[in-house]
Amino acid sequence: MTNATIPNLTAFDEAALDKAFAALEAQARDDAAGVDTEGFRLKWLGRKQGLLNEVSDRWLKAAPPQARKAVGQRFKVLKELVESLLEGGSGAGPSDAELKAEAIDITLPGTRRLTGAEHPITRTMSEIVSVFAALGYSVGVGPEVETDYYNFESMNFPPNHPARDTQDTLVVAGQERRPLRDRLLLRTHTSPVQMRTMEQQPPPVRIVIPGKVHRNDAADATHSPIFHQVEGLCVDTSITFSDLKGTLDHAMKALFGSAVKTRFYPSFFPFTEPSADVQISCIFCGGKGCRKCKQSGWIELLGCGMVDPAVFAFAALKQPAYDPKKISGFAFGMGVERIAMMKYGISEIGSLFAGDMRFLNQFA
Ligand code: PHE
Repeated sequence: MTNATIPNLTAFDEAALDKAFAALEAQARDDAAGVDTEGFRLKWLGRKQGLLNEVSDRWLKAAPPQARKAVGQRFKVLKELVESLLEGGSGAGPSDAELKAEAIDITLPGTRRLTGAEHPITRTMSEIVSVFAALGYSVGVGPEVETDYYNFESMNFPPNHPARDTQDTLVVAGQERRPLRDRLLLRTHTSPVQMRTMEQQPPPVRIVIPGKVHRNDAADATHSPIFHQVEGLCVDTSITFSDLKGTLDHAMKALFGSAVKTRFYPSFFPFTEPSADVQISCIFCGGKGCRKCKQSGWIELLGCGMVDPAVFAFAALKQPAYDPKKISGFAFGMGVERIAMMKYGISEIGSLFAGDMRFLNQFA
């Protein structure tokens, strides 16, 4: 389409201007109704030969100074009209139908943004950690994918020792060509971080280690193949079993209320000697005996013991100050889910991992 050119203006008074611009506006409306959009755009807004450019050159720039403003205002109106016609409008602002389509109902409720909340496991874990932080313990972490050496060997589980069978392990595949100690597995407990901590720093050590652990266990109401532990390690020159008892008795009272009693029951772990299971008086029946404590009045909650000299010997390979003749220590490990389930009265461990908002909202 070749562009028609516009005539030069001979008069610049208001009436002449109104007439000239009115003619152009009418033409723009005609064109918008007839010509395809791209043709319309070229004809009116084309860079070189667009009619608006021509109006600008011939009318605006050629106008005598006293008429500039009058031409400029009309030019602006024309330009807006052309642009609105190009956008598919009628040139008279949006139609009623268009307005209606865009209207929003400001009386509708807004979209609520969820702020989120701590997961009960995270919350329980921080609660346990802060009980020990208040006693001067620091907090450490270690890798979830661990070597056989840290998870087992250095914690005094020799290769093929039957104690390994108590922690049914998920191993990373395709490691057969590596020496056993370097093979990777998903850590079955947080205890390997005891060794990593001691290798990093000489005694004294007071540290708690919260973290996720994995075991190849079938899931049921109280077992999950993924769960969490908080490990503790205290090493110094004259740490005794009394320190262990006093520390854990305090921690259990801090977590479950000052009325709970603790008792230490003989147990076995390769990395502690002597070892104990800690039981607390049943928080549901106060120790009288109920279904929750299987009528015994006690609930078993964690494992602990005095650090086995063999473990210090492994640590001494990197930090000679862990000389079992000069230092002693205790360690403990507790399951976070179990504690959370008791504190919050959760009966299925699976609800902690299902991600069901109806369950999780109760903790928000
Ligand atoms: N690591 C042990 C377990 O997972 C718990 C434990 C930790 C026991 C520290 C004694 C000392 O069963």
